[in-house]
Amino acid sequence: MLGLKLATDPRWAKLAESNIEEILTDHAWCEQKAATNAITIITLNSEHTDLVTDLLVLAQEELQHFQMVHDIIKKRGYTLGRERKDSYVNELFKFRMRGGSRRESLVDRLLFSAMIEARSCERFKLLSKKIKDPELSKFYHVLMISEAGHYTTFLGFARKYGQDIDVDKRWEELLEFEGKLIQNYGTSESIHG
Ligand SMILES: [Fe+2]
Ligand SMILES: [Fe+2]
Repeated sequence: MLGLKLATDPRWAKLAESNIEEILTDHAWCEQKAATNAITIITLNSEHTDLVTDLLVLAQEELQHFQMVHDIIKKRGYTLGRERKDSYVNELFKFRMRGGSRRESLVDRLLFSAMIEARSCERFKLLSKKIKDPELSKFYHVLMISEAGHYTTFLGFARKYGQDIDVDKRWEELLEFEGKLIQNYGTSESIHG
């Protein structure tokens, strides 16, 4: 699915379900980071009107997701916990090219974003299938579809702005890198943990 090299162990969903309060807090901050990331791409690449137009929509969708998670947190009598670090995303960030052109760093950032969307989508799909809680199962199904759309948006713009770059090769390298990285995860109650 989505080119990912390694599927998440279904036991991770059980673990996530065992600590809903923690998974919801972690998830809320993932959505905040996704919105922030889209705004950063806009800030650094303001001259690309089509990119800015679509990422403004995407950033708002991520903020909506943040709000949706927060609403569930409140409804269940929990309080949003402090921001959680996402070591998976931090590790993935290290794959980015250093010292390239602005265009190269844009393409790299778009591929990095597409990768996180792809893995999040895969994790949400697993949660929607495995989790017993009907409200959360439906919720994760809805988000899975939305994040799949974001994946397509980021990959599409990477291809569009990477005409002089071998985007498919770079994407394949990133998929390989992520496939190895994710082997160290799947053992904690967090969206990418
Ligand atoms: Fe999202
Ligand atoms: Fe997303």
